[in-house]
Amino acid sequence: MQCFEVTGGTALTGRVRVTGAKNSALKLMAAALLASGRTTIDEVPDILDVAIMSEVLRRLGCGVTYERSGQPGGGGRVVVDVPEQPATETDYDLVRKMRASISVLGPLVARCGSAKVALPGGDAIGSRGLDMHISGLERLGASIHSEHGFLVATAPRLQGTSIWLDFPSVGATENLLMAAVLAEGTTVIDNAAREPEIVDICSMLTAMGARIDGAGSSTLTIEGVDALRPVTYSTVPDRIVAGTWAIGAVMTRGDVVVERAVPDHLAVPLDKLVSAGATVEVVENGIRVAMEERPRGVDVVTLPFPGFPTDLQPMAVALAAVSTGTALITENVFEGRFMFVNELVRLGADVRIDGHHAVVRGRERLSSAPVLATDIRAGAGLVLAGLLTDGVTEVQDVHHVDRGYPDFVELLTGLGAEIRRVERPD
Ligand code: UD1
Repeated sequence: MQCFEVTGGTALTGRVRVTGAKNSALKLMAAALLASGRTTIDEVPDILDVAIMSEVLRRLGCGVTYERSGQPGGGGRVVVDVPEQPATETDYDLVRKMRASISVLGPLVARCGSAKVALPGGDAIGSRGLDMHISGLERLGASIHSEHGFLVATAPRLQGTSIWLDFPSVGATENLLMAAVLAEGTTVIDNAAREPEIVDICSMLTAMGARIDGAGSSTLTIEGVDALRPVTYSTVPDRIVAGTWAIGAVMTRGDVVVERAVPDHLAVPLDKLVSAGATVEVVENGIRVAMEERPRGVDVVTLPFPGFPTDLQPMAVALAAVSTGTALITENVFEGRFMFVNELVRLGADVRIDGHHAVVRGRERLSSAPVLATDIRAGAGLVLAGLLTDGVTEVQDVHHVDRGYPDFVELLTGLGAEIRRVERPD
């Protein structure tokens, strides 16, 4: 088992570069399936999930290469060479490792007329249904059933339609978008997700020849086309990684320039940091976040974009745990997302959970202890909390963190943190 040993007591200072968003790059790789030939995607983070998506695409018959950038925080280049007739099956061993594998469903049904993708099952942050992916594809004319743990979808040619999502699901919006671009006629997706990653995939699909109107709004209108062409495209910067560095700077009373952070993608989190007492400045090619005093506790409510991102909720709880006063953190997106709080409490945090609310009473210092990273973002939140402990905090199971944060230890060390990766027997 790999662990991080985090020694508390240092402030994060300096500059850190943010590469492309994991949550976009994985979908851009899936979108490559929509055109035969070589699609090139830049600023792809060097993380395990990218290797898993590469394997998903290889098993579908694609050639996939990844070229590292060589600099910490630098994004690599993925080239996906898609055959005329991709295979259509994605197995449980890959979907189990990475739920985002299901984003090949939409492009495969649209391009090949059929797809067989393993059902992901539950994970550490809640039940995460697929009902909106399925009912949307059915509205587009696909027949879908489940057998032996697989979702099996078939459709001769998808037909444009109107789809109203019950909730602006990121994954469902992406899957339906990737299906609708090759459907016959016009598709309107209402109550669509508005995340910057949705805008990113719309931009790439448009460059491939798709006709999409309304990217970044709640209504996407897609005119289906007969075929798309491969492109070269660069991934949007990762707002969650950028937000993690920004919150880390405030918690440790540091001063950090986050290069390539897009302020508009972090409007609500940055506003919360200002309310906590931080100085937030837009600088050339990024943002600067600095903090002198102990932060003030601020309430946070997670919501789909442009609301506060659920992926930064563990960092918000960690921030409140070392701030003055009491903060109420409300989680509205994933029901199981407070599970990591038990680990934070092991570090001496004063947090009480009541349903989807966490009441956090801040403490000046936390107390070092071994803790377990339960998912990517929880792991990052625990590392930030570790920076505020009175000794050496061991964060275990950090393979989760490696899934979302390229060069995490190197970049934190570059900001002055005392952190090292160690191997422990299981
Ligand atoms: C993506 C991100 C994840 C982020 C989340 C919300 C990736 C790989 N992951 O996840 O990091 O936290 O967006 O910003 O991009 N739901 C249903 N039925 C469905 C689809 C979703 O009930 O058919 C529910 C989910 O259980 C969840 C909520 O809707 O409670 C939001 O899920 P969704 O926006 O789809 O998140 P993901 O795309 O899975």
